[in-house]
Amino acid sequence: MIRVDVGLGERSYPILVDAALLDRAAEQLTGYARGGRLIVVTDENVATTQLPRLTAGLGEIAVVPIILPAGEATKSWGMLERLTDQLLELGVERSDHIVALGGGVIGDLVGFAAAILKRGCGFIQVPTTLLAQVDSSVGGKTAINTRAGKNLVGAFHQPDLVLIDPTTLDTLAPREVRAGYAEVVKYGLIDDFAFFSWCEAHSAALLAGDAEARSHAIAHGVAAKARVVAADERETTGTRALLNLGHTFGHALEAETGFSEMLLHGEGVACGMALAFRFSAALGLCPRQDAVRVGQHLAQAGLPTTLAEAHVTADGATLVAHMAHDKKMAGGRLPFLLARGIGKTFLAKDVDLAEVARFLDGER
Ligand code: NAD
Ligand code: GLY
Repeated sequence: MIRVDVGLGERSYPILVDAALLDRAAEQLTGYARGGRLIVVTDENVATTQLPRLTAGLGEIAVVPIILPAGEATKSWGMLERLTDQLLELGVERSDHIVALGGGVIGDLVGFAAAILKRGCGFIQVPTTLLAQVDSSVGGKTAINTRAGKNLVGAFHQPDLVLIDPTTLDTLAPREVRAGYAEVVKYGLIDDFAFFSWCEAHSAALLAGDAEARSHAIAHGVAAKARVVAADERETTGTRALLNLGHTFGHALEAETGFSEMLLHGEGVACGMALAFRFSAALGLCPRQDAVRVGQHLAQAGLPTTLAEAHVTADGATLVAHMAHDKKMAGGRLPFLLARGIGKTFLAKDVDLAEVARFLDGER
């Protein structure tokens, strides 16, 4: 078993990574089951594929399941109300630990419900997508989407435990695995050239289901994320902002495709990272061969790296208009993640949005 600790003083918590952790979940979760029961919130897909394993693995612990619809639309006011009502009807107390079993959608929604219920109760992340296992289950960002945009209402609320069983990925659709892989590569692109090289050498095995490659990538990813979160929990110093590499471009692409199945979040991030590297090269900041290498690797992993592959036909001005709704926008300026090379990402605060629009027009 690999253990990584997120060091946040009294809010510190462990991340445990091991194959078949779900099947022996009682070993880790007994201490969190008040009155011998655990409320497990999941979505309808994970309820079929992974909830039976968790329920069996919890043995004597009584599982009270709450099953929500699958998909991004579940991160909504309506579902938050439905979930908090159900939790209150079940008599949730502050000392309870609600289990979020699922991908980033369930993790973000349950985390937010836990943040506001009775002014804050405990929760445990049991992520079942690669994206959630390497990124969203760690760090305490929780949110729902609103009419004005994605993740605009939320809270920082750290989980008490993150339990990662890489074998849960065996039932995940290959497209979802590839989308999550974008967040794996991201750690290499930010500040870890050696890990990017590891990705180049092992992505095929990882995507094909190789257990060792998956565990290595997850353990490396959560260790990197834990370091960043411990250094800058609330994204105030700029360190945590580096995790948003590719997200400003990516969110604009997601907005343009209506946050739909047309472009999954991880696919938007992949294309966004390829664009961020090409934009950096166009600005003369990054060697062109690095941008090409990044694009080639993401494409080999089956991820979109061009506007056309992301199903986006909008012009630069339209895409930049989407960026203006970003919650990182401050005083009319939008901080941008750019790169001086692979593993050399930095936060640029003086990017001219007109130049971004011209670059995107060139990409069409
Ligand atoms: P998701 O939760 O929608 O899961 C993707 C699909 O896979 C869903 O249909 C789900 O039902 C299914 N699924 C999940 N696990 C499965 C399994 N083991 N077997 C079979 N099917 C399974 O999507 P996601 O990509 O995990 O998360 C995306 C969300 O995460 C977005 O809302 C994004 O904003 C959020 N996010 C949050 C953070 C953060 O720091 N909080 C970071 C990155 C992304
Ligand atoms: N996924 C970005 C963050 O957690 O900060």
